[in-house]
Amino acid sequence: MEYKIGLIRGDGIGPEIIEEAKKVLDTTADKYGHVFHYSDMLLGGVSIDATGLPLTDETIAEAKTCDAVLMGSIGGDAATSPWYRLEPSKRPEAGLLKIRSALGLFANLRPAYLYNELRKACPLRDEIIGDGFDMVIVRELTGGLYFGKRYTEEVDGKLTAVDTLTYNEDEIRRIARRAFEIAGKRRKKVTSVDKANVLDSSRLWRKITAEVAADYPEIELENMLVDNCAMQLVRDPAQFDVILTENMFGDILSDEASMVTGSIGMLSSASLNETSFGLYEPSHGSAPDIAGQGKANPIATILSAAMMLRYSLDLDQEADAIEGAVQKALTDGYRTPDIYTEGTKLVSTSEMGNCICGNL
Ligand code: IPM
Ligand code: MG
Repeated sequence: MEYKIGLIRGDGIGPEIIEEAKKVLDTTADKYGHVFHYSDMLLGGVSIDATGLPLTDETIAEAKTCDAVLMGSIGGDAATSPWYRLEPSKRPEAGLLKIRSALGLFANLRPAYLYNELRKACPLRDEIIGDGFDMVIVRELTGGLYFGKRYTEEVDGKLTAVDTLTYNEDEIRRIARRAFEIAGKRRKKVTSVDKANVLDSSRLWRKITAEVAADYPEIELENMLVDNCAMQLVRDPAQFDVILTENMFGDILSDEASMVTGSIGMLSSASLNETSFGLYEPSHGSAPDIAGQGKANPIATILSAAMMLRYSLDLDQEADAIEGAVQKALTDGYRTPDIYTEGTKLVSTSEMGNCICGNL
């Protein structure tokens, strides 16, 4: 089959990790008789440099012609990059929020899985790790604080900033359904995370989630407060299967969940809309401090490409093959600096990509 894939290389380590993912995709296409046509699109700092805007209408229109979009990472060092002297709505991150909203990507899936080979990189004690853990965070991505009204004004002579957290029942229902569907294909447990002891939006979240749960009697629903969840993630991560949560809590908890797997350089993510279309990106940022040095771990992006084949192109076998090739590279002891431990083989970004291609 032929597919059109949008590529957003982005900033920092983005171009390097996308290059490796593209190698892996092309190797997979050759092996399974597919053709991937790529369309390069601008987003983030590179887009600001080229057009003055972090996201143009052209990029949005082009993304809509693709079967799926694979993205590297965007943004720079806020202390030194000129992009951060622009007003907030013109900075790289604003482009990312805008593309999520413009493409209706309300469902952000962030798997956090501990590879047995990386146990030593996991910051938790052995008895807490136990037999490992395997969870998916389902984060609502187009609502809440990220998209509520915000402004700064002077009130009684004091600068006062306002951000608003809004959710309506439809927004909660559609993301809750996604979480239950995903749990149905896994260990059949949804932990819905909120702050219902304080926030109205969380109380509505709990009510609607309970209604949705009634349609999925085979799935266990547990409610957990977000502060407790932050604690439970480091106390007993194995208790989680699917974590369902709103935008801001999901942002924070997904970084925490990725850290307990040992390296944020390993974790993929998918942002999906109501159709099969999705934007796939590593969970990590653009790491400008190591950009261009061949130190970046391309695995999160390669696993994001595998997710893209599975969710948007319906190519399960091909996705399995890529995940297997990544697993073998780890079993054979290859490590980029972020996951290196004594006794393993240190490789560069492109060597890791080549190694994974060789395993396909
Ligand atoms: C993420 C990132 C973004 C977010 C930033 C870059 C706006 O942290 O994808 O988790 O907060 O959603
Ligand atoms: Mg984040």
